[in-house]
Amino acid sequence: MSRALKIFAVWTRTKCGRKEFHRARLPQEQPSVPANNKPEMALVIKMVKKGLFITFDGPEGCGKSTHSKLIVEYLKSKGLDIVYTREPGGTAIGESIRDVLLDCRNKGMSVMTEAFLYLAARAQIVNEVIAPALKKGKTVICDRFQDATVAYQGYAGGIDIKLLDELGKIAASGLKPDLSIFLDIDAVLGLKRAGGKDRMEKKSLLFHSKVRNGYLALAKKHLGRIKLIKVKGAVEETQQKIRKIIDQCLLNRF
Ligand code: TMP
Repeated sequence: MSRALKIFAVWTRTKCGRKEFHRARLPQEQPSVPANNKPEMALVIKMVKKGLFITFDGPEGCGKSTHSKLIVEYLKSKGLDIVYTREPGGTAIGESIRDVLLDCRNKGMSVMTEAFLYLAARAQIVNEVIAPALKKGKTVICDRFQDATVAYQGYAGGIDIKLLDELGKIAASGLKPDLSIFLDIDAVLGLKRAGGKDRMEKKSLLFHSKVRNGYLALAKKHLGRIKLIKVKGAVEETQQKIRKIIDQCLLNRF
């Protein structure tokens, strides 16, 4: 590898604890783009992404919305430019899709329909909100992302995980979080806290136990990106643990 290529590879390596080197493409190595064709979005994101992308995820009632909002305030107080959003939702189109997905009247929705709707909402939010913010160097905090699709529609719903990984890549144009905070809670306790209000929360305890096991399996699979925190004790205690992880991630990055 030439010296210039090595420097470029170091410059582009992921900074959140994942120390593996990617062999980055030098500009002259990029595939030529046909005249009428836009370069692949994934490649564009790779070349221009400057901001930090953090997701929060976990089973029902784990408290991720509370904690992600507290983290937004914390990071703003440090002077970071933050975009906070959620999935499904975060855009007008995504919020409409969310309404369909969570509407208790849509009992008959198949798991494949469900998966495609979540993926459609993701395609929209990546294109409209997340990728543009990251390109501007903003830090994006997103309440749920692709891990939820794998846990809910894959591990619990029964759709092939590899297929969901592929579809997820397409929906997100190759964009992956730099860091994912998983808040882990027992399914019974989590469901009790969530209150069983929407179509997803109303699914069986068995389904939600599979969701939780799915998250645990994902956390084992992606040790570098996913940080698992057991939810117990006061909100402040869990929040301190999350802040420590995010502080470390920021330190590694800058
Ligand atoms: P929320 O209530 O945590 O915002 O999420 C909405 C519900 O959608 C929640 O039950 C988790 C579920 N969900 C999936 O099943 N698949 C997905 O890909 C996402 C993003 C969420």
